[in-house]
Formats: sequence, structure tokens, C-alpha cells
Amino acid sequence: MIIGKLIQSLTVLVIYPHDHPDIAFNECLTQNYLGTYGTQSVFVPPESCANSFAPTADVPVINVHSDAQLVWVERAALEQHLTDYPFSSQSLELYLGPISSAYSSSYSFNENSQKHLSDPVGKHILHHTSTSALLALSPARIKELSFTLPPTWRVYVLPSAPFPFLPVPEPAIARVRDILSSLKFDPEVARIISDISLPQIRNDIRFLTGEDGKSGIESRHSFSSDAKVAAEWLKVRFEETGARCELRAFLTGFAPNVVCRYPSTENTTETVLISAHYDSRGSFGSTRAPGGNDDGSGTTGLLAIARTIKRQGVTFRSNVELVAFAGEEQGLLVPDTMRCVGTAQRDKNLTLMVQADMIAYHEPGEPPQLGLPAIIGTAEVTQLVANISAIYSPELVVGFTPACCSDHQASPTPPIFHSQTNQMLIYHSHDQSFHHQGFPATQVFERAGPIADPMYHNSGDISERTGYDFEQLKSIAKVQFATLLHVAGFDLS
Ligand SMILES: *[C@@H]1O[C@H](CO)[C@@H](O)[C@H](O)[C@H]1NC(C)=O
Ligand SMILES: *[C@@H]1O[C@H](CO)[C@@H](O)[C@H](O)[C@H]1NC(C)=O
Ligand SMILES: [Zn+2]
Repeated sequence: MIIGKLIQSLTVLVIYPHDHPDIAFNECLTQNYLGTYGTQSVFVPPESCANSFAPTADVPVINVHSDAQLVWVERAALEQHLTDYPFSSQSLELYLGPISSAYSSSYSFNENSQKHLSDPVGKHILHHTSTSALLALSPARIKELSFTLPPTWRVYVLPSAPFPFLPVPEPAIARVRDILSSLKFDPEVARIISDISLPQIRNDIRFLTGEDGKSGIESRHSFSSDAKVAAEWLKVRFEETGARCELRAFLTGFAPNVVCRYPSTENTTETVLISAHYDSRGSFGSTRAPGGNDDGSGTTGLLAIARTIKRQGVTFRSNVELVAFAGEEQGLLVPDTMRCVGTAQRDKNLTLMVQADMIAYHEPGEPPQLGLPAIIGTAEVTQLVANISAIYSPELVVGFTPACCSDHQASPTPPIFHSQTNQMLIYHSHDQSFHHQGFPATQVFERAGPIADPMYHNSGDISERTGYDFEQLKSIAKVQFATLLHVAGFDLS
């Protein structure tokens, strides 16, 4: 009787390589998507579909109790010389600590699925590779993860209800291709973007990191009160540039997203989104999280763009949204792209999105660079950004990076409420790609290679240090700005 009940509440999960050709043709998958994490896409086909999934080495099939909260852990792509924590199932179990006895019996595997799991499977671990793991945890444990797992491991909370997998529609891609094919140097764009102020960027970053000694900001961790100080400050700064801004709280106690908008001068629903994340993460056991590079650099770049829009009197033909996300580093929450790209706005016309995440650091002795996503992102948008970089910031060496997965993969899924308690269980797992939600998107990053910043997710991530290159930050901000100007269309007032 008990067994029957248990099995009834088991859910089947299927994990595919994100670009697996079968996905698009299988409604059992496309209608039951749980997001893309790293290079893997997770699906939860309904029982009626379950028989059509035979586990293979490539595509594991996992049974899990439906009450479990699923969490994806992804080891960041770091340069080899950076020290990292061993990513074994043993070390994962060690960091996760003893499983609470109240929860230990509430999920299980069935015999069949267990024998297909290759790695030694622990109590929490459903699936494990050398760079990622899928965990089942008690929902109560989710908040502590960003304090208990090593800071170089990214944590993503999966939504508890599936949503449709939507490839970027062909017309949206065709629109980007059109922009790319007609792209040519515009001296007006060059003049406007060169007005980005480096001294202003230095000032702004020192405020956000607390290096200036005036802001009093110790940390911009999403749970910290200083993150709210940063949010308020950003809102006021963006508003000074003529934008209309809102602080969008997605959960009590967490820093809000700062969502700003410049209205279009033409009657259009087209919207171009540029973004960064202002929350940060420090070292194990330290309350200091200055986030000077991750992602104070992208956030300050965004602010520098806004300040230049004001100084130059730029108006846009399309709608323009500038968003500073929170919850990025805490993985669970996350950018409420739902309201920014839209609830009832699924039909909203998002031409494209460019997220800037970590744009200031390169190894000493290396040239300034621009890293574009090798794996995730819309190839056409990535190509557009690469070509714009060649035109307007030729000093940047452009290449691909495996460091992946920021808000450009953000999800427009709504918060999930527990059916009985009405408690909010998960919010938006930020890694359910924009890309797979039908929006053309890409990311700009600091290096044509893995993460090399020795202060990645470290309390030493300040702006005044070797390898932190303000010129590169400005060059990449120019690329993001030029993309915005070319795609949205503009006039000078
Ligand atoms: C983009 O840049 C590449 C490399 O320079 C070039 O071959 C290609 O023609 C450009 N694409 C367009 C549409 O201009
Ligand atoms: C704007 O465009 C929409 C749809 O094309 C149209 O229905 C509406 O009347 C237009 N509004 C104005 C002010 O021109
Ligand atoms: Zn980041």
C-alpha cells in the first residue's frame, strides 16, 4: 500500500543535451520543459509519455518523488590554474550535510531507474556528471544552498511545474538577420558611444562595491539589506537619465529587480532589452561581497549607457528596457523577466536581449577581449554583437567562452505556489533560457575563454586590482550600447 502510494507520486525526469535534434519533434518534451542548465535540458513528461523514454547513456531517465525540490548544480567553467573544489558526488553529499530525517523517506528511486544511474548515487543526487549534478532536496533547504555549496558552483532551482519549450521563432531570427545584413558603420553611433565616461564608471563602481567608503555597501548578496540600498540608488540614477523605473520585488526579504524603460517615439510594441545583474556573491563564511567584476562591471556599464543616453539626448524608436537583475547569484529567484518581458506579454515583441555579466577582467598581459557564448544563446544575435564589436570596438579580441549561463537565459515562468499551503516554493529559476522561451538573446563576457578572474565569487572582487581593466569594461559597454542603438533605432533631441 505504501509502495503503491510512493510510486504514484513518482515523477519521471528526462535529461537531454540542449541541442538534441529529437527535442523539437516530441510533444512529450516540448510541452513539459523544466529549463536548460549548463548544456543540458530537463523535461518532465507526463505518465502517458513515460513509456516512450528508454534511458540511454546520453539521455538518462530518472524517477523522483514529486514533493522533492529539484536543484541543478553546475560547476563554473574556470581556467585550470584557478583552484576549485572537487566536484565529486562524495564532496557534494559532504557539503549538503546530513539529510533531514523528516524528509529522507519522502523521495526514492524505483529499482529500474536506479540501475541506469552511472555514478554512485547518494541520497540527494539524482544525476551526476563531471561538471553538473541534479539534486532532490527538501524545499526548506533551498535558501541555505548559496551558503553551503562552494561559491564556484552555480545553483539553479528548477520550477515545480513544467512550461513549454519555445525555440526562437523564425520571424524573430529573420529580423535579427536583417539587421545584421544591413549593418554598417554609423558615425553618429560611434560619436554617441564614445561619450561613455570612464571617470563616471570608476566612481559608480566604487559606490557599488563600497570601495569609496561612502556608500556603506558591504555586500549585494540578494539576501542582504545593502543590496536594497544598491537597488534604490540604481533606480534613482536611472531615473535621472529620463527612464521610468520600478523596483520589482519577487519575494519578501530579497533584493528587487530594477526595471527601467524608455518609451518608443514610434507606435510600436518592439522592445530591446539590455541587462546586467547587480547582486553579488562573496567567499565562504565572509559577509563581504563587493562584486566589482561580477557583476558590478555589467551594472556600471548599463548605468554608463543610461547616463550617455541622457547627455546625448538620445530617443529610441523602439521601446527600450534596461534591467539590473537581482537573485542571479542566489540562483533561486531570479529575474522577474516575466513582468519585464512579460506576463500577458508573452506576445510582447522582444527584438533581442543582450546581458552583460563580468566584463572587466582579463589576465594581466592579455589583450582586452569580448567573450561570446559558445553554447547557449541565439547564434544570430551573437554574430550581430560580434560584428558590431569589430566595427565600434576593434581593440577587443572577440572569441567564444564556455563560461555560460546568466540572465540571458532567464525565464518568464510565473512563481510556483504550493497547492496546499499556498507558500511560494520557487520563483524563477534564472537559467531557463530566454533563448528557449522564444526570445533572441546573447551575453557579453570579459574573456574569450573560461573564467580567469581569481576573485570570481570571492570577497576580494573589488575594482582596484591587477587585471581589472576599466578600458575593456568601457569597450564592451560600447558594444552593448551600439547594439541597442542599431537595433532600436534612435534620434537625437
Ligand atoms: C560579420 O563579420 C564577419 C567576420 O568579419 C563577416 O565575414 C561577415 O560578412 C559579417 N556579416 C555581415 C552580415 O556583415
Ligand atoms: C498604433 O498601432 C496600432 C496597431 O497597429 C493601432 O491599432 C493604433 O491605432 C496605433 N495608435 C496610434 C496612436 O497611432
Ligand atoms: Zn554573474
